[in-house]
Amino acid sequence: MRILSFIIANFTVLLTLSANELPQQDNKEHLGVASCAASMCHGSVIPREGSDVLQNEYIIWSRADAHSQAFQTLLSPESKKIANKLGLESATTASICLDCHSDNVNTDQQGEKFQLSDGVGCESCHGGAEEYITSHTHAAISRDENIAKGLYPTDKPKARAQLCLSCHLGNKDKQASHDIMGAGHPRLAFELDTFGILQPLHYVVDEDYLKQKWAGNNYITWIYGQLEASRATLDLLEEKLIDNSTLFPELSLFDCHSCHHNMSDLKWNENKGQGFKPGTVRLNDGNFKMLMIIASSTGHSEILHQHLADVKSSLNDKRKLKALITAIFKDIEQLEKAIMAQSIADKKVSAFATLNDILSAGTNGEFSDYIAAEQVVMAIDLLFEFIAKKPEFEEDISLLFDLVANDEKFNDALFSKQLSKLYERIRQ
Ligand code: HEC
Ligand code: HEC
Ligand code: HEC
Ligand code: HEC
Repeated sequence: MRILSFIIANFTVLLTLSANELPQQDNKEHLGVASCAASMCHGSVIPREGSDVLQNEYIIWSRADAHSQAFQTLLSPESKKIANKLGLESATTASICLDCHSDNVNTDQQGEKFQLSDGVGCESCHGGAEEYITSHTHAAISRDENIAKGLYPTDKPKARAQLCLSCHLGNKDKQASHDIMGAGHPRLAFELDTFGILQPLHYVVDEDYLKQKWAGNNYITWIYGQLEASRATLDLLEEKLIDNSTLFPELSLFDCHSCHHNMSDLKWNENKGQGFKPGTVRLNDGNFKMLMIIASSTGHSEILHQHLADVKSSLNDKRKLKALITAIFKDIEQLEKAIMAQSIADKKVSAFATLNDILSAGTNGEFSDYIAAEQVVMAIDLLFEFIAKKPEFEEDISLLFDLVANDEKFNDALFSKQLSKLYERIRQ
């Protein structure tokens, strides 16, 4: 009996560890930013000496991090217009907005100091603190134990990807759908490594950090960002296309720019067409394109390529589409295993090969859709960083960023020309 309960207890720990329930679904009480912000805890004005963490996380978040303004945004004239057009009484009370712009947990999980107006606060990312609030400051209590108590493993790249993407791409529970975009919501674009760097840092990777946590690495962070974004896209395709009986499926799953441009601006060419006739609506496949590039250095690319191509021609055959989605989930799993089994030296080689593949494909006009180009530029930037060659190519990279700065002015011919220049430069 004791053995059995021991097994059950440990099994539950394993389950909580492996499931990584997103903070919004963790069923823990969320105590509110004020509970983390005391000056002896995370509210110090300057980084504290002799502490393992900065302790000024609150000040960084509240002064510099856009997440602290996420709820305030819902009070802006833009949000009022969006809410009006959607027939919502107010953006500040609509779950559809609060789900991403705040820590929208059930009212019975909201602690005394909890306020929705804190926006995307500490517990939106680190998990409800109900059970770890007292234990997470004890040196004797391990990180895994705190994670079992509800601390979200933000350092693990896969868990982090799932967390950030839940708001920056959407999932089955929440989505910035085409009606929200149609009402004026900005288009969402995300890449895990780039956005991780854009978010003002409230932690330092020092010796103590490395003892307990994953060190971070641009290449692996990028890969998990793409693997998880592809998985999330497949989930959405399954949910919105297969279980859908409306005249038009959810349009945000398709490439915005394939519908939204002037009719006199004829953009179709063979690369853009991807095997389809002019006038075909294309999938929003920027992440799938990156997935293909990632696979190209591993020997998993042919089958994945075939499956992804088949998806595009099977969008109106629900049975076939479902089977393909299942197959691609398996392809992604194998790809993940193959890459994670590489040694660090192999990863550097792979990263260089990947960079080469991107530039070579780009030279052939492979990334003529804006959504792919945008992903490509972020990937090139972080891959140069990873192979420690960024300073040499700084100017070329910044030119690429200029070329994708405005989606409505994107010129695919100029873009592939710049990629081919860079391709020549790295081969010199
Ligand atoms: C609960 C939802 C949510 C989660 C989780 C989340 N974000 Fe955000 N993020 C937002 C919202 C909403 C905004 C826009 C805030 C505003 O301006 O009102 C935002 C803004 C940002 C910005 C600023 C973008 C810009 O254009 O200036 C960055 C960078 C960012 N997030 C990175 C991340 C990263 C990295 C993660 C994961 C570690 C993450 N976010 C997790 C909702 C979220
Ligand atoms: C799936 C998550 C999600 C949903 C749902 C969502 N948003 Fe957002 N919203 C974001 C993210 C992420 C950003 C930041 C985009 C960026 O900068 O990359 C954002 C940005 C915005 C911005 C622009 C902010 C700025 O600083 O420019 C406004 C306005 C906005 N959202 C309003 C709303 C309203 C109103 C609703 C409800 C009708 C809503 N959002 C629903 C995730 C979401
Ligand atoms: C948008 C998501 C997000 C928000 C909001 C956020 N964090 Fe973090 N935080 C992270 C990520 C990602 C890391 C880095 C990975 C890690 O160390 O787990 C991190 C790391 C930390 C660390 C670890 C430092 C170390 O050296 O080990 C502390 C402490 C922390 N955050 C506290 C806070 C506090 C306090 C708040 C609110 C004032 C907050 N965070 C808000 C995502 C977030
Ligand atoms: C399959 C074609 C298609 C795709 C793909 C598509 N849209 Fe639309 N969009 C439409 C149609 C149709 C309308 C409504 C027609 C209108 O109001 O002009 C519309 C309306 C809009 C509007 C409002 C325009 C207005 O004048 O009020 C915005 C903004 C918008 N879409 C943004 C997006 C974004 C962002 C994406 C990608 C995430 C996207 N659309 C993807 C077809 C599409």
